[in-house]
Amino acid sequence: MSRSYSSISYLAAFFMLVCCTRIEALERADLNERVEEILSAMTLDEKVGQLNQYDVGESDLKKAIAEGKVGSVLNAVGAALTDELQRIAVERSPHHIPILFAFDVIHGLRTIFPIPLGLASTWDPESIETMARISAEEAGESGVRMTFSPMVDVARDPRWGRIAEGSGEDKTLGSIMARAYVRGYQGVDLSAPTSIAACVKHYVGYGAAEGGRDYNTVDMSEGRLREIYLPPFKAAVDSGAVAVMSAFNTLNGVPASANDHTLRDILKGEWKFPGLVISDMYSIRELMPHGVATDAKDAARKALLAGVDIDMASGVYLDHAAALVRGGVISLSMIDDAVRRILRVKFQLGLFERPYVGDERDANKSLTAEKRASTRAIAQKSIVLLRNEGSLLPLSKSVGPIAVIGPLADSKPVMLGNWLGKGNADEAVSVIEGIRSKGRDIVLFNKGGDILNDAIDGIDSAVEVARKANVVIMVLGENVDMSGEAASRANLNLPGQQEKLLEAVVATGKPVVLVLMSGRPLSIAWASTHVPAILEAWFPGSEGGNAIADIIFGDSNPSARLPVSIPRSAEQVPIYYDHLSTGRPTGANTRYQTGYLDLEISPLYPFGYGLSYSDFEYRDLHAEVLLSGDDKVKVSVDVTNISQHAGDEVVQLYIREPASTIARPVIQLKDFKRIRLNPGETRNAIFDLNFNQLRALQPDMSFVVNPGIYRVGVGSNSAKLLEAPFEISPSGAIAREK
Ligand code: GLC
Repeated sequence: MSRSYSSISYLAAFFMLVCCTRIEALERADLNERVEEILSAMTLDEKVGQLNQYDVGESDLKKAIAEGKVGSVLNAVGAALTDELQRIAVERSPHHIPILFAFDVIHGLRTIFPIPLGLASTWDPESIETMARISAEEAGESGVRMTFSPMVDVARDPRWGRIAEGSGEDKTLGSIMARAYVRGYQGVDLSAPTSIAACVKHYVGYGAAEGGRDYNTVDMSEGRLREIYLPPFKAAVDSGAVAVMSAFNTLNGVPASANDHTLRDILKGEWKFPGLVISDMYSIRELMPHGVATDAKDAARKALLAGVDIDMASGVYLDHAAALVRGGVISLSMIDDAVRRILRVKFQLGLFERPYVGDERDANKSLTAEKRASTRAIAQKSIVLLRNEGSLLPLSKSVGPIAVIGPLADSKPVMLGNWLGKGNADEAVSVIEGIRSKGRDIVLFNKGGDILNDAIDGIDSAVEVARKANVVIMVLGENVDMSGEAASRANLNLPGQQEKLLEAVVATGKPVVLVLMSGRPLSIAWASTHVPAILEAWFPGSEGGNAIADIIFGDSNPSARLPVSIPRSAEQVPIYYDHLSTGRPTGANTRYQTGYLDLEISPLYPFGYGLSYSDFEYRDLHAEVLLSGDDKVKVSVDVTNISQHAGDEVVQLYIREPASTIARPVIQLKDFKRIRLNPGETRNAIFDLNFNQLRALQPDMSFVVNPGIYRVGVGSNSAKLLEAPFEISPSGAIAREK
């Protein structure tokens, strides 16, 4: 019987799959065997040594490594240093177990990319993966084999400075980005010298700190935890992330580094996470100020019982874990499980076979043109065009004298953000440099005085410079130390007297382009109605000034979309798009509805919002339920570029669900696609929504597909959607129960 080609190929594919699975199984068995072989030869003290992570600055580091008291080292970067320390471990420590070197490679190591909030603004997982891949290569060559990234904390309170480090307010966007980070860092072969372990953080709920105050109390229902805050962690773990970092905060009264519910019940239990859990810095010792541990030994006990495998820098495991086992308080099997997880990761990284880096390639000595091009291209995609009245942008080629004004206009450090790895600010391109590099007409410059620190004596000279120009580019916002860790702000306004500088320059009547640089959304209510063109550039990386100039002069068409809502004022916070309807939603024709007497309830700019130099029109939205083998809803829509500019559109798909036992968000993002359209071009965008994406939380914490009428919304942001209904029958919904 002749077989069609396709059946032979299927047979071959099946055979390959079986082989690969078998090879993986053999490799896993071999790896586990090697782990057990080492473990069985280790003393209790040597096992405890693997649970201890030292900072590179510890005075007795080399001695402790030689004695087998250090399993991993934080903040050691550079092949010469890591190889020197590694040689001590491999040649002199009791079982020659290699050290795992870890560092915060958050958005680049030498080549710095936009901060994660800017990366999320690209709505482009490929860009994230590219960034992570380049970061991993630079880190691997520097001896670093684990990064404390991705940070996947959902954040709905921009007063929290660490909103800068994550992917914003939405769990779906955050989950898709989390997967891309892990793919980029860990690559297709984690044992390759240019792959690094992803350590996803901060587990869990850190972004929901009360008042946006860093390290503060987090209290939420189990339902909200499972529906909003856990999914990005699950996405990272399902993508193979081999490490998870426990957070500083309490969750419902229990500190994350002593929380056996989140660590043992959910992460290691329900999810069967095989990797290692590392505490955040000193967070085990901080169980004492939290008031849940009576002393350091009690803190060690609580963290071990909860399932924290590595103590980052607080030393309490090294001091007390062995005594806890000898005293019968902690079982030896618990220590063994932690050591197994750590050794497994070290084997997966190939550290036993290849513990040394050798000569660090020149690539890490300076920024190559190729890497500059890469970070510049991603930065272009991260800059959000918020306003463009009268199409002031892009500036025409012969715009005449340009005034560049503002405290951040010539700043290089501001390009790198607050987790700048081993980035060198001197190599960064400032805004004024980017604009001058366009070789345009006269470029005048004035900082506006020490405006960030409340000085206003520089405003008059700035205004004089503005009067001499045909157009003014103002570069305002936050310095890098005004966001990130321990940098919460009570208000979201432009810091210092920048608003006064802005109003004075706008009063000259000159057309103004406002470039914002910040680690969080800023409440620019006055600018939003008085400044014709506004860009949010976040902190855009080593090539930030060039990317901003590319957008301003039209060499790049803006395509970024907000990963966070921008509030009108901090008084609105928390504000996020996927809120509940309430029983008295806004819009009803009555006073008796939710909202404020003195402030509009809607955000200044909504989640998913961003303008382009192109203009896109949506038509013919269809949704069809296909109850075939893999139950799905096929959604299609025509998107047309009705402008004269080729551009990228981020087509966003949201769902409104039918009534459910637990109230559902008014809408939720389920998928998105970036599509490039030439002038006049129409594309039929198709989404296959599987039923798993429609499941709704139930009182017993299960997620099921409700029958009923759904509405799918597709469009360019969460507040501008074309809608169409579709129905899932009771039988269809039940089909998902199997
Ligand atoms: C910091 C941060 C964490 C970082 C760690 C190591 O305190 O909370 O995000 O990865 O310590 O630097």
